[in-house]
Amino acid sequence: MQRSLMSQAGLTDEEVRGAIEQGPITKEYLSDPNKVASSLNRLRSTEITSYLQYKQHGYMAVSLLSPGLKSEFESHAKQELEHADRLATRIQQLGGVPIFDLQEIAGKASAIGIHAEQGTTLTEMVIENLLLERRQVEAYTALIREIGEKDLITREILLDILGQTETHASELADFLKRSSETR
Ligand SMILES: [Fe+2]
Ligand SMILES: [Fe+2]
Repeated sequence: MQRSLMSQAGLTDEEVRGAIEQGPITKEYLSDPNKVASSLNRLRSTEITSYLQYKQHGYMAVSLLSPGLKSEFESHAKQELEHADRLATRIQQLGGVPIFDLQEIAGKASAIGIHAEQGTTLTEMVIENLLLERRQVEAYTALIREIGEKDLITREILLDILGQTETHASELADFLKRSSETR
């Protein structure tokens, strides 16, 4: 049955096999899918670390009497997980496998200078989150430039996540500016 489908489409067995193996990757895809998938795994590790950090800060903010900041941390955490999910979907489309080994995740995030931190005051936590977001902004921007026009969908996904990451950084910086003014 498979054979007759192939001859109907006027393709050789080899062409059909290649199509099945490569999925969405055609000759117009101008990047190296393995390399892009591994860069995406690196960024995804920073998103998982960021998720854990925001969750931790959310738990700890309760006792520090700041419900506003607690919900801010929680809503950022949710978005970080969405970023990780979007990257995982793209990694799979490119023929890669999202990393799930915890040590590997920690190692890749730390290679970009990102480790989960938990300061003792709310201000320290906000600063830690701001620094993490800024490292991500740098890493995303660098990869977007590197990809250029070679992988349009990865570029679009990265641009979208970068936009949200800059929004997070902005919000955190605004909070710190405001809290230093009222002091
Ligand atoms: Fe994120
Ligand atoms: Fe973020």
